[in-house]
Amino acid sequence: MSPSDRLRRQVALHLEELAEDGVWGLESPPGVSTETGSQPSVSSPPLAPHSADSRSMNPGVSPGPVSTPVPHVFESVAAPDMGASDHDLSGSASHDLDLGQVEREALGCTSCRLCEKRTKVVFGVGSPNADLMFIGEAPGHDEDLQGEPFVGRAGQLLNRIIEAMGLRREDVYIANAAKCRPPNNRNPSAEEIASCRHFLLRQVALIRPRVIVLLGRVAVRSVMDREESLARMRGRFHNWQGIATYCTYHPAYLLRTPSAKRMVWDDMQQVMRRLEVDG
Ligand code: URA
Ligand code: URA
Repeated sequence: MSPSDRLRRQVALHLEELAEDGVWGLESPPGVSTETGSQPSVSSPPLAPHSADSRSMNPGVSPGPVSTPVPHVFESVAAPDMGASDHDLSGSASHDLDLGQVEREALGCTSCRLCEKRTKVVFGVGSPNADLMFIGEAPGHDEDLQGEPFVGRAGQLLNRIIEAMGLRREDVYIANAAKCRPPNNRNPSAEEIASCRHFLLRQVALIRPRVIVLLGRVAVRSVMDREESLARMRGRFHNWQGIATYCTYHPAYLLRTPSAKRMVWDDMQQVMRRLEVDG
């Protein structure tokens, strides 16, 4: 079978899956990019070259993901200070103000029991005009103390991933499905997620990012109400709230399972290409 026949067949299979899901992205049959075993090169540039030939929205036309080495920034999370952004929200569009209102409401929220043990509500951080939004599951210990999402070890890795994408933390928006820390880092319950959901929905409605990345299976379940494994959910865009939504592994999982960095980097390249296509 010629490479183009193979690609056509994969696209056909992929379309069946898309039909099932009501999906959005058609450009990359899962599996086309699975280059395995390539070791990240320390000297590799952080970004794939973004060639002008890319990227058609049409099924079957896209060349598929260009696999590039995992940037070496994925390899270390040792830096104590990522040069944390100072979250300049001065963009002054009116939705910035609305977002501030939603945040003030969240800061006083007592709708579920998580309010009893929280130190700080962790509403979200980043640009109100972000094209790209990351959504995790719930604040952990560090986030609860600081009132900001993804500031612990997993957060430092997320920062590096964002930088490897050629972006800065302050360019994107970062939030969680649950705004308060579940005690002992347990998963947020369905009730807690449900009572918090309106905050996330309003954040998404006000920011209107072009792409959302859901981090980890708990986020996928909480946000999209999908029970499938990440292995099944990743590899293509889903349509959630009319927004191209990609599911990938949580950075905390990458800390435990460094071999998964290859997959997340492949995923982030799809996200970068989507941002280029639509931009
Ligand atoms: N894990 C999450 O899902 N969110 C955070 O903010 C931090 C860790
Ligand atoms: N399982 C999860 O719950 N999250 C991940 O990111 C990976 C595996």
